Amino acid sequence: MAIIGHGIDAVDVARISDLLDRQGERFRDRCFTADEQAYAETSKRRDEHYAARFAAKEAVMKALGTGWAQGVGWTDVEVTRDDAGRPGVRLHGGAARIAEERGITRWTISLTHTDSIAFASVIAE
Ligand SMILES: CC(C)(COP(=O)(O)OP(=O)(O)OC[C@H]1O[C@@H](n2cnc3c(N)ncnc32)[C@H](O)[C@@H]1OP(=O)(O)O)[C@@H](O)C(=O)NCCC(=O)NCCS
Repeated sequence: MAIIGHGIDAVDVARISDLLDRQGERFRDRCFTADEQAYAETSKRRDEHYAARFAAKEAVMKALGTGWAQGVGWTDVEVTRDDAGRPGVRLHGGAARIAEERGITRWTISLTHTDSIAFASVIAE
């Protein structure tokens, strides 16, 4: 399968902590799906999980080759988890439409985070 796109992004955890403090539910609901929130909210490393998922959303946009302008919302890009904790990408709405137009049928994603920074890398095939 051909690689169609690659994206990488880094997010300061403090930036996400600040948004969570100032905007709370409004920020969470605008940017994260119910399942993403359910996972992060159960963890002691809540802000890191949110930061990693925020980085993943931006990395997916890079791989798609679009900005947020083209009718794509933050929750159109969802980070899933399998039983072993391995992350995956599920697209909805505008992001799913653009991926289909580009012929992307498979995503590979990797996340890492410390208490200060989170990174995401994604490959679109
Ligand atoms: C993958 C692993 C090495 C990451 O360890 P780490 O260095 O402490 O953590 P990092 O900050 O670098 O990465 C964390 C991210 O790794 C990813 N990750 C977790 N498990 C993973 C796996 N099995 N494969 C790929 N990525 C994985 C997740 O995206 C996680 O971020 P999240 O919790 O926000 O979703 C560790 O979690 C591990 O060994 N997991 C496998 C455990 C396993 O197989 N359990 C079976 C349960 S049934």
